[in-house]
Amino acid sequence: TAIQKARDRVGGLGSVQQAVRSMNQDFQALKEECLQNGSLFEDPMFPAEPASLGFKELGPFTAKTRGVEWKRPTEMTADPQFIVGGATRTDICQGALGDCWLLAAIGSLTLNEHLLHRVVPHGQSFTNQYTGIFHFQFWQFGEWVDVVIDDRLPVKDGELMFVHSAEGSEFWSALLEKAYAKLNGSYEALSGGSTTEAFEDFTGGVSEMYELKNPPRDLHRIIQKALQRGSLLGCSIDISSAFDMEAVTFKKLVKGHAYSVTGLRQVDYHGRAERLIRIRNPWGQVEWTGAWSDNSSEWNAVDSAEKDEMLCKMEDGSSGRWFSRFLRQFSRLEICNLTPDALSLDHTSFWTTTMFEGSWRRGSTAGGCRNHPSSSQ
Ligand SMILES: *[C@@H]1O[C@H](CO)[C@@H](O)[C@H](O)[C@H]1NC(C)=O
Ligand SMILES: *[C@@H]1O[C@H](CO)[C@@H](O)[C@H](O)[C@H]1NC(C)=O
Ligand SMILES: *[C@@H]1O[C@H](CO)[C@@H](O)[C@H](O)[C@H]1NC(C)=O
Repeated sequence: TAIQKARDRVGGLGSVQQAVRSMNQDFQALKEECLQNGSLFEDPMFPAEPASLGFKELGPFTAKTRGVEWKRPTEMTADPQFIVGGATRTDICQGALGDCWLLAAIGSLTLNEHLLHRVVPHGQSFTNQYTGIFHFQFWQFGEWVDVVIDDRLPVKDGELMFVHSAEGSEFWSALLEKAYAKLNGSYEALSGGSTTEAFEDFTGGVSEMYELKNPPRDLHRIIQKALQRGSLLGCSIDISSAFDMEAVTFKKLVKGHAYSVTGLRQVDYHGRAERLIRIRNPWGQVEWTGAWSDNSSEWNAVDSAEKDEMLCKMEDGSSGRWFSRFLRQFSRLEICNLTPDALSLDHTSFWTTTMFEGSWRRGSTAGGCRNHPSSSQ
């Protein structure tokens, strides 16, 4: 009941420390049972069966799912690893599913260890007390939920069908994708989505989005404040057709690809103020070669100490590129504002949050889906 739920909330249920068990599955209890049984976990709630793959293109008896087998990492490679030396973006390669939006969000997660380990709890491996069970945590409808999975993954023609790591022996990203698929009913339910949705599910933050064709007048102030408050910022260039996906613009930016925004500065350039934005590519180098790129002549006009500071590597060893014509190059900016508990202590500014619970009611507040207006009836 609502009252019981409110009581549980006060007791901390649904917080990061005490996530709600999705489908009432208790990770610790199930794991101990498996250890006692001496068996590997087989999840009855998301079985290794065709229905878990999908319902349409990936549905049972379709060409795409013919010959699919479910295999545990221990059956695929001699020495499977969960995470090797910290998560990096090379652990995430897209498979036969249109979920690049999800991969971009997972990629951004790897930039922030604190956030990553709320979604991917510590202490999971294929060696220490391995029983084929893993768990992940997502933010859903105002609370953290703990999702348990077994590690049987769909394999076709000897290869993982969906997300896989570059060398094929690291499995945290494939297992995270499986847990997210379970939460949504099937793998196919993940095809088509927005990066901000995944950001919200991974952080419990609140998102906003700006179309850069019509930017608000104080966009720079908005970006500045978001950076000060530790928000996650992503920007992208729209694609006009599937053919465009990952096409490279003439200045070497990739369309339809999610970049992160990591800095904003104003420099004195030939006596006027020039606003620069630093962009980072979660998948590798930003290959930007235009004005203000690393060796471009614009930097000669900037104070050399300032230049050195701006061009030095970031704390995690990665680098970004500076841009002046941000609005002209990119089509969309997405900002995910994090709640205070998601930030490390060195942030001086943060948001405060208040939560209200509500529900959609048929006939009064429920609007129905735009494609099927009658669903509100
Ligand atoms: C452990 O074994 C019992 C008896 O065979 C079975 O009912 C139970 O489902 C097993 N537990 C797990 C987590 O596999
Ligand atoms: C998956 O489920 C989550 C949590 O219920 C939801 O926020 C998200 O929109 C769903 N995504 C898709 C693609 O169905
Ligand atoms: C900039 O110059 C350095 C040193 O000459 C070189 O190593 C680097 O590749 C250059 N970067 C670009 C983007 O051209």
